[in-house]
Amino acid sequence: MSLMMQLLILVLLPVALLLPPGSQAGEIIGGREAKPHSRPYMAYLKIQRKGKTYICGGFLVAENFVLTAAHCNGDEISVMLGAHNIREQEQSQQKISVCHRIPHPQYNKETTNNDIMLLQLAKRAKLNRWVDTIALPRASEKVEAGAMCSVAGWGGTSTDCELTPARLQEVDVVVMPDATCARNPNGPYRDYNTSTMMCVGDPKTGKDSWKGDSGGPLVCGKTAQGIVSWGPPTPPGVYTKVSTFIPWIWETMRRLQP
Ligand SMILES: *[C@@H]1O[C@H](CO)[C@@H](O)[C@H](O)[C@H]1NC(C)=O
Repeated sequence: MSLMMQLLILVLLPVALLLPPGSQAGEIIGGREAKPHSRPYMAYLKIQRKGKTYICGGFLVAENFVLTAAHCNGDEISVMLGAHNIREQEQSQQKISVCHRIPHPQYNKETTNNDIMLLQLAKRAKLNRWVDTIALPRASEKVEAGAMCSVAGWGGTSTDCELTPARLQEVDVVVMPDATCARNPNGPYRDYNTSTMMCVGDPKTGKDSWKGDSGGPLVCGKTAQGIVSWGPPTPPGVYTKVSTFIPWIWETMRRLQP
């Protein structure tokens, strides 16, 4: 599947499929507008790739590092922190360019395995009440099936696309047992990998797990346990399991620290 297709499926299809009668296109169904600045770790990423602009989510894990999905990589990425309404210039916003993009060395485009990327910022973010880091899990920490988590994002696939909401949206999602994303060779989850991925979003509730952008965090309690990665048009969706990558994250940040 092409990256463009992945991004489209991640964001647009579920919205289209779940639009109840009378609702407006672009409205995020089953989710809600986040309380402004209640998620100060959220990053809005603008990605330039082959002359086109894409957007992704990400999250601040250190003053100068943002974590996102590897499939959000491009030729150039800029990061906006402290935003609520991305169409307005808010006092809280900090726009910082990215000096190093470090996709996971074993990221696999075909299977979307190891879909994680660290972005080193050109300068340190100023931490304040609008901009702050989020905690990472401990290595190999487990999130039990049934845990309630949430995901947030600005939706959309390109800056030209009017479907994207201006304000940060969020939705609650439940962690499913791995078996719900079983690897049927012909099914939509044939590339599901229990060691690197999480299966999130109850198919029965119709509550969509794909309201967030690719690269945005799955937040359980106060911890970023997952990264929005891929999935079929309906829930559950597949998230990168952050706890698996903790040694790589810390080692990479330490290596690049000035
Ligand atoms: C799951 O991912 C790990 C880490 O990349 C890899 O070593 C393993 O072979 C994968 N398992 C399957 C069944 O693809």
